[in-house]
Amino acid sequence: MKIAVPAEADQVETRVAATPETVKKFIALGAEVFVQSGAGAGSRIPDAEYAAAGATLVPTAADAIRDADIVLAVRRADGAALKPAKPGALVVATMDPYGNEAALQALADAGVSAFAMELMPRISRAQVMDVLSSQANLAGYQAVIDAASEYGRALPMMMTAAGTVPAARVFVMGAGVAGLQAIATARRLGAVVTATDVRPAAKEQVESLGAKFVAVEDEEFKQAETTAGYAKPMSAEYQAKQAVLVAEHIKKQDIVITTALIPGRPAPRLVTRDMVASMKPGSVVIDLAVERGGNVEGAKAGEVASVGDVKIVGHLNVAGRIPASASALYSRNLYAFVETLIDKAAKSVAVNWDDELVKATLLTRDRAVVHPAFVAKGAAA
Ligand code: NAI
Repeated sequence: MKIAVPAEADQVETRVAATPETVKKFIALGAEVFVQSGAGAGSRIPDAEYAAAGATLVPTAADAIRDADIVLAVRRADGAALKPAKPGALVVATMDPYGNEAALQALADAGVSAFAMELMPRISRAQVMDVLSSQANLAGYQAVIDAASEYGRALPMMMTAAGTVPAARVFVMGAGVAGLQAIATARRLGAVVTATDVRPAAKEQVESLGAKFVAVEDEEFKQAETTAGYAKPMSAEYQAKQAVLVAEHIKKQDIVITTALIPGRPAPRLVTRDMVASMKPGSVVIDLAVERGGNVEGAKAGEVASVGDVKIVGHLNVAGRIPASASALYSRNLYAFVETLIDKAAKSVAVNWDDELVKATLLTRDRAVVHPAFVAKGAAA
């Protein structure tokens, strides 16, 4: 059983899909692991550490992928690049499937069985495989670190012989996984933290972290959580009420961190240009939703933009800004899932196609797009 870890094709990707720790575990399951030289460089993992863990280092992605039973990646690889893998090889990565039907068809055409880690169901058994949580958690932390480094002042209150420096006021919009970690991190740094969300369950979580909850708590708010635990798109009426509340609150904030997302839709627009302009000079806004259209008007993907004297930070791949930790957690998520696709006694790939985790994540099989959410579109592509 051959497992391939090619370097990420996209140069901006700093993370890697396997670490020496998971390489050792795969070898213990009876696999041979082929790592492309330099694959770990962006995550500060030298080739020598992979070699010491028992991996075989190879010079190119094609060398790693050739005859592989399993290919591990952070991002979806180009279908053509996967053709040298064994027919039916398993490719496990974050696949960004929405709106990328042609790329899914290319994976099908390559003859691989592609699994999208971000479609993993949020059930207890799969928590250890939840890449959205592991990466969002780090992104929430990193958002505060980025905000602190852009902000020209201290976050904690400091009482010194030369006088007192006030604590920064931090407002976190969206209290899911990233938002809750941002709240916890900003609190640890001594900021005065408030937060908002449209899901009522978020209120208690925000308060348990020592932050104050700020939201329009009407009847619609009480119904805003889906059975899967995600937010619903809110009505125009609710959004207008929310905007009034937020506008008043934001004026008094030094740092605003937005993380609001609705699955399968563009990010809700929560902060207008006028709201940004109402903030004090030197304030910082971090838009973690920028890759999904952004929560903040004026945020630019991949840039630090300015509205007057306020900075709007729109970094891409924020988890990738803390790559060594992000890779450590991502690779463990991958290992936990891939382990379930292996017959440990036979030391070979053995997928239970009826397993609910497999059904939820499998995009392509037998040269076709098979995931129900994409199958019709795949056929039409
Ligand atoms: P997400 O990344 O889809 O969205 C981030 C946050 O934005 C959510 O809290 C959402 O309610 C909020 N939001 C959406 N529209 C908004 C608006 N207009 N204004 C303010 N906030 C808005 O969500 P994420 O981080 O994936 O978490 C969703 C839920 O799933 C959370 O309750 C989380 O605790 C839960 N979860 C459960 C897991 C499990 O295994 N059971 C694992 C991970 C998360």
